[in-house]
Amino acid sequence: MAFVVTDNCIKCKFTDCVDVCPVDCFHVGPNFMVIDPDECIDCTLCEPECPANAIFAIDELPEGQEIFADLNAELSKTWPVLTEVQDAMPDADEWNGKKDKLQYLER
Ligand code: SF4
Ligand code: F3S
Repeated sequence: MAFVVTDNCIKCKFTDCVDVCPVDCFHVGPNFMVIDPDECIDCTLCEPECPANAIFAIDELPEGQEIFADLNAELSKTWPVLTEVQDAMPDADEWNGKKDKLQYLER
């Protein structure tokens, strides 16, 4: 199994998640974060840390978020690991909760 970062992280990227991951499996892009499914040990620690409630177990993905399982696997192959909390995106609080942000994903 693995945990998956989903739509609501886009344009928010609060990064609180990276602080708790014991195996450093978060990878960072321009405006989104992903989890490497081959490294995640399902410890569950990151899920409650995300202010955007964007992290789910892969078998508990909300309807319509299934595509993010593949995106996490794909993008974690090329994006660098992030282990220290950074500033959130500008306007993160305004974007938190907006729907269908996949169109804004920058690679
Ligand atoms: Fe890291 Fe645990 Fe979250 Fe997996 S479930 S990404 S191991 S903090
Ligand atoms: Fe994204 Fe939530 Fe982490 S917004 S960067 S998954 S804390």
